[in-house]
Amino acid sequence: MLKRHLLGLPIVVSTGAVAGMLAASVSTSGETDPHQLASDDPTGQVRTFNVNGALDLDNPFFKDLGTNGRTCFSCHRPAQGWTITPVSVEGRFVESQGLDPIFRTNDGSNCEGADVSTVGKRRDAFSQLLNRGLIRIGIDVPAGAEFVIDSVDDPYNCGAPLTAVSMYRRPLPSTNLRFLSAVMWDGRESSPATTTLQDLAKQADDATQGHAQASLHLTPQEAQAIVAFETGLFTAQARDDRGGSLRADGATGGPVALSQQPFFIGINDPVGLNPTGAPFDPNAFTLFNPWAQPDEDDEFTRARRAIARGQQIFNTKPIVISGVAGLNKQTFSNGVTVPEAIIGTCTTCHDAPNAGDHSVKAPLNIGLTDASRRTADLPLYTLRRISSGETVQTTDPGRAMITGKWADVGKFKGPILRALAARAPYFHNGSAATLDEVVAFYETRFNLHLSVQEKADLVAFLRAL
Ligand code: HEC
Ligand code: HEC
Repeated sequence: MLKRHLLGLPIVVSTGAVAGMLAASVSTSGETDPHQLASDDPTGQVRTFNVNGALDLDNPFFKDLGTNGRTCFSCHRPAQGWTITPVSVEGRFVESQGLDPIFRTNDGSNCEGADVSTVGKRRDAFSQLLNRGLIRIGIDVPAGAEFVIDSVDDPYNCGAPLTAVSMYRRPLPSTNLRFLSAVMWDGRESSPATTTLQDLAKQADDATQGHAQASLHLTPQEAQAIVAFETGLFTAQARDDRGGSLRADGATGGPVALSQQPFFIGINDPVGLNPTGAPFDPNAFTLFNPWAQPDEDDEFTRARRAIARGQQIFNTKPIVISGVAGLNKQTFSNGVTVPEAIIGTCTTCHDAPNAGDHSVKAPLNIGLTDASRRTADLPLYTLRRISSGETVQTTDPGRAMITGKWADVGKFKGPILRALAARAPYFHNGSAATLDEVVAFYETRFNLHLSVQEKADLVAFLRAL
């Protein structure tokens, strides 16, 4: 198997297409480490560190294993934090006139099997993918569900039966996977009986059947090779335009330090699920501690101090958390019940140290899918609970489409918060176009009352992850 050093030029490879796209994404800033892939992003540079060595383009991750020309790389690209961004998708649309394999009507278009016979029709048909980088996840209401769908207000008039739901979701990054506690936004690839590595192998096969429309299963060897590849990847912002290198002066930003970050299921859990019995420490992020008290007062150090202040806000700013299904009034496996309202922090939910996801499976409803936040480009489903007749409107029933449980409507996992700057927009439905909009969401949802300075600091920190 030929390993190609993507940053050591020249790149001469047979898999020309992929190598070309990767090479194009590599910044020419003098970086020569073949284990790292660097790309400029809107606020600096994002890097991927591969613990297995140079990126192996012969890995099945880059292979056309289905029937529609797609590979994992169609939707998971290093320059975009191993997901896709609307800007990059638009570029592919223009270049290919909307014929690149990402533009397929099984799940790339707003409606299944959309009319894509002209460039103009393709632009309309793929508007969610082009505008927000969203893929359509179609799931049938599970047998025995506690609810039925009464009606749907569908902006695309797809004409699907009321037993099937179309949910428009961001591809999750296929990197930093060693920190996962649940696979997929709704945890559907995870089960209590399996390990995350087993879940990822099944996910790879399901992605090949679904997104790539394969007629055959992956061989166990292919699935293992994909999992070995993707779990070797660590991606983080490495340079910030204002603060410079995120490893300077003792800071531990960037992907190499991330690859050494300890993780196990339950680490730093806030409700007592840490298997070591260690108490929760709200200071889940420590990357920029050394930047809190700098000596100098130049532009760089001022930017660094803002990042450190943002980290402090993320770790310690008190937030009244109430009405979050899956947390408030939830009883966990150790018998702990969380009160109706608690004073927490961002790290109550983003608790995994320096990774920022939730270290145990904890699907939460933070209100993103409520009717009040619905935008005109999303469908609105009215669900009715069979036992009581009560109804709820939601743009995406989330975990409820897997468990069939009424209590799970609108629940999603908290994703890993690294390499954010490279991969806007945010949240499962891409509803926050920028990190400022993420913070604005939390402002309104939890009445944070952050000052202008605090908001700017928090964004500076998120951008540096
Ligand atoms: C057409 C686009 C597309 C293709 C092709 C694709 N994915 Fe994805 N991927 C997604 C979307 C969308 C999600 C999130 C869906 C959800 O959670 O409902 C996702 C989620 C994932 C996740 C979950 C990460 C997490 O945090 O839970 C992994 C891992 C992943 N994909 C790997 C792969 C692999 C491996 C392949 C190739 C076999 C692949 N993907 C092909 C769009 C794609
Ligand atoms: C009550 C739990 C909770 C709290 C508190 C919380 N989050 Fe989140 N966060 C989540 C969940 C759940 C998601 C995923 C929601 C979705 O997309 O459906 C999320 C998503 C995010 C994302 C988007 C990540 C991505 O990949 O799209 C960012 C950024 C984020 N949170 C930052 C913050 C910040 C900053 C704070 C504090 C001001 C905070 N969170 C407080 C639960 C929480």
